[in-house]
Amino acid sequence: MTGIEGLLHARLSAAFASVAGAPTDPVLRRSRRADFQADGALALSRTLGRPPREVAAEVAAAADLADLSTVDTAGPGFLNLTVRGDVLGGLLADTAADVRLGVPRVADPRTVVVDYSGPNAAKEMHVGHLRSTILGDALARLLDHLGHRVVRQNHVGDWGTPFGMLIEHLLDVGGATAAHALSAGDLSGFYRAARAAFDTDPAFRERSRRRVVLLQSGDPATLRLWRVLVTGSQDYFRSVYALLGVRLTDDDLDGESRYDERLGDVVDELDRAGLLRESDGALCAFPAGFTGRDGTPLPLIVRKSDGGFGYAATDLATIRYRLGELAATRLLYVVGEPQRQHLAMVFATARDAGWLTDAASAEHVAFGSVLGADGRMLRTRAGDSVTLVALLTEAVRRAAELVPDGADSGALARAVGIGAVKYADLSAERGKDYVFDYDRMLAFTGDTAPYLQYARARILSIFRRAGLTEAAAVDTVLVTEPAERALALDLLAFPATLHEVADTALVHRLTRYLFRLAAAYTDFYESCPVLSAPEPTRGSRLVLCDLTARTLATGLDLLGIEAPDRM
Ligand code: ARG
Repeated sequence: MTGIEGLLHARLSAAFASVAGAPTDPVLRRSRRADFQADGALALSRTLGRPPREVAAEVAAAADLADLSTVDTAGPGFLNLTVRGDVLGGLLADTAADVRLGVPRVADPRTVVVDYSGPNAAKEMHVGHLRSTILGDALARLLDHLGHRVVRQNHVGDWGTPFGMLIEHLLDVGGATAAHALSAGDLSGFYRAARAAFDTDPAFRERSRRRVVLLQSGDPATLRLWRVLVTGSQDYFRSVYALLGVRLTDDDLDGESRYDERLGDVVDELDRAGLLRESDGALCAFPAGFTGRDGTPLPLIVRKSDGGFGYAATDLATIRYRLGELAATRLLYVVGEPQRQHLAMVFATARDAGWLTDAASAEHVAFGSVLGADGRMLRTRAGDSVTLVALLTEAVRRAAELVPDGADSGALARAVGIGAVKYADLSAERGKDYVFDYDRMLAFTGDTAPYLQYARARILSIFRRAGLTEAAAVDTVLVTEPAERALALDLLAFPATLHEVADTALVHRLTRYLFRLAAAYTDFYESCPVLSAPEPTRGSRLVLCDLTARTLATGLDLLGIEAPDRM
C-alpha cells in the first residue's frame, strides 16, 4: 500500500496489534462517511469476545494519528478517518513536483512475460484478436512503467498442418496472386480458397499432407514458400498494430515455428520425468485434476499418433522456454476464455515437470467475447466474422464526424476513434462478454475515452487561456472545500490503483479510476472558481487542475490511448 492510505494503514495496524496482542488487519477502505473507514474492530471483537464499539474506541485511543487525521468511532464499531487538509496539501505538492506522479518503481522488479495478440499467419485478424492485443498491450505498458522487465511475446500461429494446404494453394495460384492477396489484406479469401480445395479435392488434400511432412523435415524449397506466406502476414500484422497504436514489433514475434526444434527435447524431458503415457497411438500427459464428463482422465496430447506435434506441445515448449531461458518469474497468457482448460493443463504439466515452481507464477489472463447488438458473436451482415481493420476504420470514420474540422482533424479522429474502441474494451470487466456499440463508445459523456480525452483537453485550455504552460510549483495545496478534498483523495489514489491493476491484471480498475477522477474534477471545477480566485487559492487550484490533467494523460497512455492536447 502506498500514499496516504499506506500511512494510515501502518498506523492503524500498530494500534490494532496493541489491542489484539497479534497482527490484525484494520480493513481500511475509502468511505462515503469520511475519507476512509476501518472496519477491523468488528472481526476483532468476535475474537476478543468484547463489544465492538468498545474495541473500536480502544483502538482509536491507541492510534497515533494526530499528525495525519482525526479518528472517530461510529455505527456498530467502525472507525471513521478524516485526513488533515495540510497533510493532503503537502502530499499533493510532492506529487505535483514528481514526474512519476508519486508512482515509484518497484524495489523488486520481476521478469514478466506478456503473451498477447497471437494472430494466425495467412489469416485475417478478426475481432477475436482485439481483446488480447489491447489488454496485453495495456498490461505490458503498465508493468513496464512500474519498473518490471517486460518481455512481450506474440505467439503467432505460423506453423503446423494448415501450412500444407496454404503452400499448395500458393503453388496453384502462383506467387504473384498470393503476394497480392497477402498485401491487399485479402487473407480470408486466400485461406478460404485453400480450405475449399482441401475439403473438396482429394488430390489436393494428399499433396497438402505431403507438404506438411516436407515442411517439418526442413525441405528448403518448402521453407521458402512458407516464408512467403509468413512474411506477407507479418507485413499485414504490422499495419494493424500501427493502426491500433500497439507496441508490438518484429522483435516480439514468438511464433509457433520458433519452437519446432525444441519439441523433441520437451517430449524427452517429460518422458524422463515419467509424465507421458500412450493413448490411441498418441503420447499424452495426464495432469491430475482434469477429467472428462465420465470421470476419465483428460489427455494433453504432446505427440500425435502420426508423429506430428500440435498446439499443446508448442505451449509446453513456450512455458519451458520462458521460465528456463528467459528466467521469467511471472507469465501472463492474455488468451480468450475458451482456452482456459488448455492453459490450465499446460500449467499443471509444467508444474509436474518441475519447470514451474513456487518461485514463479503462470496466469491465464482470460477474457470474454465481443458481441453484436443482438447479443451474439459480432458478425457482418453476410454472417462473416468482422475483421479488425473494418471495425477500426469504421470507428475512425465515425469519430471524424464528431471532432472539429482543422489541420489536425485526421489525427484527432484517429485518436478519438481508436481510443474509443480500446477504452470500451478495457473498461469491460475482462472475464465477461461485452456488446460492441459505436454510439456508446464514441459518446462525449459517460465512461468513454472521448469523455476522458475531452476532460484533459479542457484543462489544458484553461492554462492556454491564462497564458500559462504549466502550474507554478507550490509548497502546499490548499484543501478546504469538499470538492477539493474529494479530488485530492482521488489524485493521491493513483499509485495504489496502478499496483492493484498490476497485481490482478484487471485493467478495468484503471479505467474506473480515471472515470471517477474526471468526475471528481468536474465537480471541483463547477464549485471552485480557478482563474478568478484570489491568490494563493488560484495557484493552488491550478496545481489541482495540472495534476488532474497529468494523471489522466499518464493513465490513458498506460491504457495505450492517445490524449490529444486540443479537441
Ligand atoms: N494463435 C492462438 C489463437 O489464435 C493464440 C495464441 C495464444 N498464446 C499461446 N501461448 N497459446 O488461438
